[in-house]
Amino acid sequence: MLTAFSAHPEHFSDALRLNIGDDLSEQGWSQQNLFLSEELTLALAAECQALMGSGALKLAGVGRGDVQAVRPEIRGDQIVWLKAGQSIACDRYLQIMEELRVALNRTLYLGLEEYESHFAFYSPGASYLKHLDRFRDDDCRTISVVIYLNHEWLLEEGGALRLHPEGKSTEDISPSGSRLVLFLSADMLHEVLPATRDRLSLAGWFRRRPG
Ligand code: OGA
Ligand code: MN
Repeated sequence: MLTAFSAHPEHFSDALRLNIGDDLSEQGWSQQNLFLSEELTLALAAECQALMGSGALKLAGVGRGDVQAVRPEIRGDQIVWLKAGQSIACDRYLQIMEELRVALNRTLYLGLEEYESHFAFYSPGASYLKHLDRFRDDDCRTISVVIYLNHEWLLEEGGALRLHPEGKSTEDISPSGSRLVLFLSADMLHEVLPATRDRLSLAGWFRRRPG
């Protein structure tokens, strides 16, 4: 098992950086268990729960701009975008993702420039039908990233992320706490299967410069 950090917690280990890079270039996706510490995962989960309780999360839309519509039968998660400075836990998470951005650029030369991220909360039964994360009018999203915040998730509770790699069999990834999944936003069709309990995550995208 590779850990996210070497002796210096500020730096990704070369092994992890190269492992993610190989996965992405060979199969278009990568899974890293125990990517965040349990402590940070719990703090982020508590923050997501509290934001949900205060009504800050809203049903996400599908489509973009003028044609955006809430269609819970297509996409059933409730979300709130992260802002720098909102909490110590979120700032720590954003700092880790910044380090990951730099590490990926050293390995894959994708010119990733920005990161955007939201909390996502799927109530029992909510799902997100098969889709791509890249929009027709915005091709800047390059790598999709999901970190799961669910303590002791059981396989039978459902809620898998189902990847559909082209020409290969599907891959189901259970949303266990601290697990990181990355995939190529333009190519990887994927869906979120319904669960029998609340399913919490942080979804994000590394973006490159437009044009
Ligand atoms: C998304 C998405 C996957 C997941 O937010 O676009 O596909 O496992 N999320 O939560
Ligand atoms: Mn998606």
